[in-house]
Amino acid sequence: MAMAKCLAPVLIFTVFCCYAFIPSHASPDDFFQCLSASIPCQLVHAQSSPSFTSVLVSSIRNQRFTAPATVRPLGIIAPTNASHVQAAVVCGRRHGVRLRVRSGGHDYEGLSYRSLRPEAFAVVDLSNLRGVRIDKQNSTAWVDSGATLGELYYAIAQASNQLAFPAGLCPTIGVGGHFSGGGFGTLLRKYGLAADNVLDAVLVDAQGRLLDKNAMGDDVFWAIRGGGGESFGIVLSWQVRLVPIPPTVTAFRIPVSVDEGAMDVLTRWQEVAPVLPDDLFIRVLLQNQTATFEALYLGTCDPLLPVMRCRFRELGMRMNRTHCQEMTWIQSVPYFGMGAGATVEDVLNRTAATSAYTKMTSDYVRQAIRRDAWENIFATWLARPDAGIMILDPYGAAISGVPEPATPFPHRAGVLYNIQYVNLWFAGGDGGGAAQMKWVRDFYAFMEPYVASSPREAYFNYRDLDLGENAVVGNVSSYEAGKVWGEKYFRDNYRRLAMAKAQIDPDDYFRNEQSIPPLGPGK
Ligand SMILES: Cc1cc2nc3c(=O)[nH]c(=O)nc-3n(C[C@H](O)[C@H](O)[C@H](O)COP(=O)(O)OP(=O)(O)OC[C@H]3O[C@@H](n4cnc5c(N)ncnc54)[C@H](O)[C@@H]3O)c2cc1C
Ligand SMILES: *[C@@H]1O[C@H](CO)[C@@H](O)[C@H](O)[C@H]1NC(C)=O
Ligand SMILES: *[C@@H]1O[C@H](CO)[C@@H](O)[C@H](O)[C@H]1NC(C)=O
Ligand SMILES: *[C@@H]1O[C@H](CO)[C@@H](O)[C@H](O)[C@H]1NC(C)=O
Ligand SMILES: *[C@@H]1O[C@H](CO)[C@@H](O)[C@H](O)[C@H]1NC(C)=O
Ligand SMILES: *[C@@H]1O[C@H](CO)[C@@H](O)[C@H](O)[C@H]1NC(C)=O
Ligand SMILES: *[C@@H]1O[C@H](CO)[C@@H](O)[C@H](O)[C@H]1NC(C)=O
Repeated sequence: MAMAKCLAPVLIFTVFCCYAFIPSHASPDDFFQCLSASIPCQLVHAQSSPSFTSVLVSSIRNQRFTAPATVRPLGIIAPTNASHVQAAVVCGRRHGVRLRVRSGGHDYEGLSYRSLRPEAFAVVDLSNLRGVRIDKQNSTAWVDSGATLGELYYAIAQASNQLAFPAGLCPTIGVGGHFSGGGFGTLLRKYGLAADNVLDAVLVDAQGRLLDKNAMGDDVFWAIRGGGGESFGIVLSWQVRLVPIPPTVTAFRIPVSVDEGAMDVLTRWQEVAPVLPDDLFIRVLLQNQTATFEALYLGTCDPLLPVMRCRFRELGMRMNRTHCQEMTWIQSVPYFGMGAGATVEDVLNRTAATSAYTKMTSDYVRQAIRRDAWENIFATWLARPDAGIMILDPYGAAISGVPEPATPFPHRAGVLYNIQYVNLWFAGGDGGGAAQMKWVRDFYAFMEPYVASSPREAYFNYRDLDLGENAVVGNVSSYEAGKVWGEKYFRDNYRRLAMAKAQIDPDDYFRNEQSIPPLGPGK
């Protein structure tokens, strides 16, 4: 079960052998000179500075990307106000240095702080910009991108025990990447995505302008709520709608092994979980020969038990009052997102430890997978020595009620559940992880007939570069080449994202290996 927990961060103090390819039009010295005019020098960590490595690794969540072969930034800028961010963009444009922005550093491919291609770039690390301002009367909040989900959740709970926010499980995730890529967790069936609950945002664009939703325009405001922020600029803060929750919620966790009938419960779960009442969320973790059902119910145990017995008999009949853990919503955050024994205060810890190397990918399921296929999955894939885990998150209710074009996130009506394939290991070096990476890739290939197809769908926040990478043609990313990954994450919304990109950043200044390419008018 430990594996299913938040794959928390680690601080490592390796001496990296840094290299950065510097294109001929880039002038790093002039770039740093330019920064020094507007940004206090202690907020700028050039590669040669002694603080560089510790700042770089401070939020790296995947040991694969601490390897020296990764292309590193020329420097890291850690702004403490909006004008520093604007200055970084202006200096970057002027001197041919691109920017990548990092909020919580949880990107599965590390694209917020590394490049796969030789290029001159700097990182804007927003971890100093992490205020949370709650407006209890209006049930709204402004939260800065550098805040973690844990900091947001904690601040809400301090203000009220009957307000919450629907977003991911792991408290160290950064708001900036998470909200702009969608964001879902235990409240997704009742309240949808984090991005579905964004009311306004403040963006620094590729010209260094500071824009709210009216100034950025409908298409760009649409795009940053699920299409990924990094393609459109640097989102500094978000206004969100807080959601009502009861003062007591109930969680439970019930492991069922294959010998105890996991196959029956799981096969049935696929049909039931997406149509249960919207205040009941039941996810499944598959590891080795066990399916563990983890649930959050927005209410007390008394009404939950009859709902389980009547709506999901296969699991409900195995359950009694001893399985119910009644708690406040904020107590459910460490319950789902951290290891046993974690307290509510621990959700504020930005640096929980792991030394894990990870590989993940995702799928969506629109038609229940047959029992015999599940038997094969358990017997063949989950039984292997290098096997990882499968996490199944049920959709339906609020997340599926939003029309597909309403936000960039297209996995709505008709989706039964999301699959996340996760593998992790603890030793790098030559060949380290080869078997675990192969397990993910081979299993993903095997699953093709059972999951959504044409296009095969994937969740953008579970980024996987195996799905494809941009090709740069001329000096911009190619719209056509981007379709291969873009339509998996966004289906038909990929095209509108590319048009929004052309409005706000036609030169493709903000780009990475999977950023939205610009599609100009008339194309
Ligand atoms: C342990 C773990 C648990 C997870 N659990 C969940 C979960 O329960 N639910 C879920 O939906 N997802 C989950 N995720 C995925 C997570 O939502 C994404 O990785 C998310 O993008 C991370 O945001 P970040 O700010 O921490 O990451 P970063 O690495 O900082 O950023 C991710 C991407 O967004 C861009 N970006 C970051 N900040 C900004 C900004 N301010 N403006 C513009 N662009 C920006 C970056 O450039 C990068 O491309 C999990 C990931 C991990 C590692
Ligand atoms: C940002 O910080 C700088 C100092 O680095 C200061 O001069 C400037 O006034 C600040 N801007 C705002 C908007 O607070
Ligand atoms: C809160 O809502 C009221 C009316 O609903 C409005 O007048 C007020 O401006 C709002 N406050 C903020 C800070 O948005
Ligand atoms: C997997 O489960 C089987 C049977 O329950 C057990 O014997 C085996 O040790 C488990 N393997 C791992 C790696 O946990
Ligand atoms: C409740 O379930 C647990 C675990 O299945 C079992 O050990 C216990 O005897 C049950 N208690 C009652 C009162 O049925
Ligand atoms: C934060 O988590 C890390 C890793 O688990 C731990 O070493 C550290 O003591 C924690 N910090 C606090 C303030 O609890
Ligand atoms: C890309 O090329 C166009 C013209 O060919 C130019 O206007 C633009 O500034 C270039 N963009 C970048 C980021 O170099």
